[in-house]
This record gives sequence, structure tokens and C-alpha cells, in this order.
Amino acid sequence: MNLKSAYEPYFKIGVALSQKNLDLQTDRALTVEQFNSITCENHMKPMFLLDWEKNLKNPQLYQTNPAVSLAPAKPFLDFAKEHHIPMRGHTLVWHNQTPLWFFHENYDEKAPFADRETLLLRLENYIKNVFELIHNEYLGLFYAFDVVNEIVDEGDFRKSKWLELVGEDFFVKAFEYARKYADSEIKLFYNDYNSFEPWKRDFICERVLKPLIERNLVDGMGMQSHLIMEEPELELFRTAVKTYGALGITVHLTELDIHNNDPSEESMNVLADRYAGLFRILIEEVKNQNANIECVTFWNLNDEDSWLTGFRRETSYPLLFTNGKPKKAYDAVIKVACAD
Ligand code: GLA
Repeated sequence: MNLKSAYEPYFKIGVALSQKNLDLQTDRALTVEQFNSITCENHMKPMFLLDWEKNLKNPQLYQTNPAVSLAPAKPFLDFAKEHHIPMRGHTLVWHNQTPLWFFHENYDEKAPFADRETLLLRLENYIKNVFELIHNEYLGLFYAFDVVNEIVDEGDFRKSKWLELVGEDFFVKAFEYARKYADSEIKLFYNDYNSFEPWKRDFICERVLKPLIERNLVDGMGMQSHLIMEEPELELFRTAVKTYGALGITVHLTELDIHNNDPSEESMNVLADRYAGLFRILIEEVKNQNANIECVTFWNLNDEDSWLTGFRRETSYPLLFTNGKPKKAYDAVIKVACAD
């Protein structure tokens, strides 16, 4: 048994990959064996896809039409293509991992910030160029794309350069451009963390998703799902899944992990129970047709690969595999699907 077969009746099981995973034959084999969706952990973010050399050397030429290259992501895209594993694109618009020069006149951090008109042209052409390259070189590989990431924070729209320099409609514009240039089989997503929290869930529904749905610009909600052992209470997660599902758009869990700093057998059993509880809820909500959950992606393959160890400043054991070997949590997740 493996994850993708166990969950075949319900949804895809995805994984985010880093360069280290691609370099290691055992990680490649594990990915092919277990998963049927791949996300680049980093290599499709603006700081990777923007061609620094071209844009910075010749800013006049690229002033409103940023040079873009798929080269950094190519090893991942080739791997996915070779093994016929569909991909989620991540991510076009984000306040993070986007070079600051992108927001300045002449791509020069010492120059003033660029105006709204220039930034909207850059945004449109960035999105156009990315989707054109994908169309030309990897037609049919992507089935979903995070267009906009994490624009809701502290009870409001996040104070980002995009908001400050373009205005509140920047995310609608981004989706307009994505809809215009993406191949039609690519579903367009809004993606955010802690999207189960009631205030954030409601803000996202009212202020982000509904305006986009009205204009037929969004196809899905990406719930990142970086969870911890204590929070959230899983019923709160269920409510959020149902709330997004009720909007009639697809739901993905895009970055699932559960931070846990204790590798003892007892603690790993509790982690397994928590994963089982979560997957039970997801299966129930699919069966009850309360949410069209299409994919659940784990944020990294092995515990050793997880970003959480750096982020939390303590070793984390948050995933289903350790050094290529399945953990208790893996068995528990499989068992939930097979119990039905
Ligand atoms: C956010 C982003 C991801 C990743 C994680 C941390 O959730 O969406 O791309 O950077 O942070 O790894």
C-alpha cells in the first residue's frame, strides 16, 4: 500500500520537494512510490523565476516586462514530467521571497519605488511570461497554481509592498492576469496559513474569495495547514474546510505539517493519532460532499527536510517519514483511508 493509492478514492497526496530531495535517489524513489502531486518548496517563487542578471543589467529594457526563466525549477519540472506526476505551482505573488528591487524604478533599490502603473505592468508581464514558458515547455504538467499567497494578517489585508504601492485591488489584478494567461486546465488558488482561524477564515471568504468568485477568477482555496500538536482543535479545521467548500470552489491542503519537538515513541503515537483525526475529517467532508478536496500536500518529505526545525529553533519531527522510512503517522494515515 502507499499514500496515493490509499487516497485514490478521495484526493491526491502531494509533497513539497527541495533540491536535496531531487539529489537523493532514495527520496526520488519514495516520491514516485507515494505521491501524485508535487510542489517546489522554493524554486518557483519570484526570487527564483525572476532573471536577476537580465533585469539588473538592463533595467531599461525590462522595466515593465520582467525577464523570467524557468531554469531554477527545471530539474523539478523534468522529474515530475518524467514520472507523470502533476504539479502545483507555488507561488506568483507573495510579500516574501520576492526581491525588493522588483518594486523599485529601474530595479534599483536606491531609486524611488515604482508607481502603480509600472508595477501592474510588471505584475501582468511576470505572470504572462511564467505561464507562457510553462505552456511552451511543460504543457499539461500543472493542474493548480497559487496565484496569491498570504495577503491577510492581523485582522486586515497585510501591509505589504503590493498593498502599499499598488492598492487593495492588486490581488484581483493578479488573478485577472493569471486567468488571462494560464492554460485553462490550471486551477487558480488563493493560499494562506492559519486559514482555519475564525476571523481569518471569514475575512478570506468575504474580502478575498467572494470578490474573486464574482468575477470568475478563482478556482480554489489553499489551506497551508502548518499545524501544531495543541492547535487547532480539529473540529475548527473541519468547520473551515466546510466553509470554503460551501463557496463552491476546490479546496487543497497545500503545506501540511504538524510541529512536534519530541521524537519519543509515545509522542510519535500522539502525532499519528492527530494525523489520523485530521484525515478522517477530510474523508468525511469529501464523502458528505461538503468540500471538493482535491489534494493534500505535505510540506516536505522526511522529518529531516522540514523547514520547521529552522523556523521553530528546535528539532521538529512533523511528517510521515524519517530518513526515507515510514513512521507511525504514515501507518495511521493509510489506515484511515483503508478502514472505509
Ligand atoms: C509559507 C510559504 C511556503 C514556505 C513556508 C515555509 O507557508 O507559503 O512557500 O516558504 O512558508 O517553508
